[in-house]
Amino acid sequence: MLYDEKTVIIENVDIGNGYHLMVLDAPKIVSEVEPGQFVHVKVPSLEPSALRRPFSVLDAEDGKLSVLYKSVGRGSSALADAKAGEPVMVEGPLGHGFPVGSKAAALLVGGGFGVAPLYFLAKRRAALGLESILFVGGRTKDDLLELERFEKLGVKVFAATNDGSAGVKGFVVAPLDGEVLKLRQEGKAFELFTCGPDGLLKAVTERALSLGVPGWISVDRHMICGVGACFACIQKTVRGNSRCCIEGPVFRAEDLVW
Ligand SMILES: Cc1cc2nc3c(=O)[nH]c(=O)nc-3n(C[C@H](O)[C@H](O)[C@H](O)COP(=O)(O)OP(=O)(O)OC[C@H]3O[C@@H](n4cnc5c(N)ncnc54)[C@H](O)[C@@H]3O)c2cc1C
Ligand code: FES
Repeated sequence: MLYDEKTVIIENVDIGNGYHLMVLDAPKIVSEVEPGQFVHVKVPSLEPSALRRPFSVLDAEDGKLSVLYKSVGRGSSALADAKAGEPVMVEGPLGHGFPVGSKAAALLVGGGFGVAPLYFLAKRRAALGLESILFVGGRTKDDLLELERFEKLGVKVFAATNDGSAGVKGFVVAPLDGEVLKLRQEGKAFELFTCGPDGLLKAVTERALSLGVPGWISVDRHMICGVGACFACIQKTVRGNSRCCIEGPVFRAEDLVW
């Protein structure tokens, strides 16, 4: 069920480098949201006609919904100024998320705030006793977000940064390729899940196709309505133009046309 819920900010903290962590009291959305789905947030201080902003769900438990967001423009910066106790209208859960229950190891490949839906997925899988491994990349160590959360779940983390300030120096696909080789040699089944910049999504799509394993790709496109009406969020697929807010944001690797 889709809700337009009057939530209340429990906390909204600056975690550095332009990133913020917001926790909302949102029992209705929390009761239904699945990993990879998103919410559409009406930023409280903007004019009533302002568009909502879409954000992935980082965590949803005990009625609390967490969002990890970066201040990049007018909406997200205004959201960063919102204070605990303020009401916020939030629509959700929206879109199609990741499948959760595969017995194969889940190789999660994320960049920037793309780790948010991957954490929610890893948490749900951990509760089912299912294995996840995180591969996370960024320009510097400051772009590697919320890694302790994954580690607390028992998720093995491989990091890569362009400047070598954390993990291996270079792109995150290098440790991914290394682990894929190892899993293949051990005869272990795995699936790929990714969220992050388009370059990363393309690289993971190519690997899923060439390896012949399921690949689940969360695509981020500018959105206006969030509910399928405006066609602002188009992604090309083998079936023609698809709306990220309805048919996505998570697509199968073999369906995407880059
Ligand atoms: C399904 C989905 C999930 C998302 N999850 C998150 C999340 O978990 N955390 C997070 O920080 N952001 C997330 N985003 C991106 C977020 O919605 C945008 O950063 C935000 O709407 C920008 O609003 P603004 O008013 O601050 O920026 P604007 O003033 O509208 O734009 C500022 C800059 O941000 C760019 N921008 C705007 N929208 C997007 C977008 N959708 N993707 C990338 N760049 C954009 C613009 O091109 C411009 O350069 C998600 C987007 C989608 C579609
Ligand atoms: S945002 Fe309007 S159709 Fe997707």
